[in-house]
Amino acid sequence: MPESKNLDSVPLASPIIPTPTKSSSWFIVTLFLVLFLLVVAIFVFKTSQVVPLDQFIRLPSSAGEHEPAINAPWELVGLALLEGPEDLAYHSKSRLIYTGCVDGWIKRVTVNESGVDTVVKKWVDTGGRPLGIAFGRHNEVIVTDPKKGLLNITQAGKMKVLTKGTKDEKFKLIDSVDVAENGVIYFTEASYKYSLDEFVLDILEGKPHGRLWSYDPSTKKTKLLLRNLYFANGLAISPDQNSVVFCETVMMRCRKYFIRGKKKGSVKDFIDLPGFPDNIHYDIGEDHYWIALAMASSSNSSELAHKYSLRRSINGQPNDQKESINTTTGGVIVVDTKGNPTSHYYGPQFSLISSGVKIRNFVYCGSLFNLYMVRINNLQNYSSILV
Ligand SMILES: *[C@@H]1O[C@H](CO)[C@@H](O)[C@H](O)[C@H]1NC(C)=O
Ligand SMILES: *[C@@H]1O[C@H](CO)[C@@H](O)[C@H](O)[C@H]1NC(C)=O
Ligand SMILES: *[C@@H]1O[C@H](CO)[C@@H](O)[C@H](O)[C@H]1NC(C)=O
Ligand SMILES: *[C@@H]1O[C@H](CO)[C@@H](O)[C@H](O)[C@H]1NC(C)=O
Ligand SMILES: *[C@@H]1O[C@H](CO)[C@@H](O)[C@H](O)[C@H]1NC(C)=O
Repeated sequence: MPESKNLDSVPLASPIIPTPTKSSSWFIVTLFLVLFLLVVAIFVFKTSQVVPLDQFIRLPSSAGEHEPAINAPWELVGLALLEGPEDLAYHSKSRLIYTGCVDGWIKRVTVNESGVDTVVKKWVDTGGRPLGIAFGRHNEVIVTDPKKGLLNITQAGKMKVLTKGTKDEKFKLIDSVDVAENGVIYFTEASYKYSLDEFVLDILEGKPHGRLWSYDPSTKKTKLLLRNLYFANGLAISPDQNSVVFCETVMMRCRKYFIRGKKKGSVKDFIDLPGFPDNIHYDIGEDHYWIALAMASSSNSSELAHKYSLRRSINGQPNDQKESINTTTGGVIVVDTKGNPTSHYYGPQFSLISSGVKIRNFVYCGSLFNLYMVRINNLQNYSSILV
């Protein structure tokens, strides 16, 4: 296949651009509120020297006589050693989590029973800002770095740029990546217009600047698959290898793009979400997707509360189902392969998370902003109330 030159030949994901309506104006108002909260949160976070740990977690007071934090519903991992661990990829053989940080380093994080025993080590500095991360077919690490391009890093740490775009179209804010069984790499570009530092402008502008791309290592061809996506963010290949599920953050939804079979090239709705999705990961053990929601939406709390009555708080008890969703709350929503939600783990401690990956009995949550990962402990404590 030739490199994509003619944009018009690419199918439109959203051929109809909605005109402003009443419902889109509440959406804009909600978005402004959310952005305001986000800016306040970042400001407060950046200007406070001390992270108020006691608000987050019960830490052991002394090494000898502590109640292990693992008995807490959740805890912080890698505090102050991980700056903005946006996406996570778990290497089960070495039991290491690979994550890209804001300083350009991809770090490797041990998975220990108790989060405070976690060891964080620097691995490779991309010189940019690694975001999406996934393992390739040969154990290599594939990274979307909006400053450097699509990267291939061998386990020995040798880095190579695979692509920065096509002849006519250079990437701007490439975001999330996954690798199909046949080796083809699929990745999203949240915005072709704005850089990572300006991503809030893209959200404010609210136009579909997002795109979906593929790169085939056997032909070394970069291909534009979809354009007109609304802040195309997380992406995961379906277990049957027939489609990729991608999240459109500002639309609070995920859709499916078929990569083979009869429906190849078409787009289908997958799920509307009760918040703003970031990364999505498929978990083979449970045959479910785990989608990180950076923030919950309060758009129509009675409707959402009804639809997501299965949601539960991480602070112990399942929630009163009538409680409305809180805009300062983030979480992880678990969705089956048909797009039906089965559970939703949430709480204010998950505000601004960008990924949630199930590892053994835990869920590790990355974040574009936080100086740590948040981990949900002992998933079995919640499974008895899964719908
Ligand atoms: C969760 O499970 C662990 C291990 O089974 C247990 O020690 C802990 O007390 C449980 N926590 C809650 C809140 O039920
Ligand atoms: C944490 O895990 C790493 C890697 O598995 C291991 O080397 C280390 O000993 C563990 N630390 C503790 C305190 O268990
Ligand atoms: C990444 O680089 C390694 C070493 O050159 C190579 O074996 C592997 O096939 C490459 N992966 C991709 C997806 O290009
Ligand atoms: C919210 O959803 C409920 C239930 O579907 C509906 O009755 C109500 O009118 C909605 N409210 C708004 C403001 O759209
Ligand atoms: C949202 O959650 C935060 C943190 O738990 C709390 O301080 C705030 O009062 C809540 N707001 C609403 C409207 O429930």
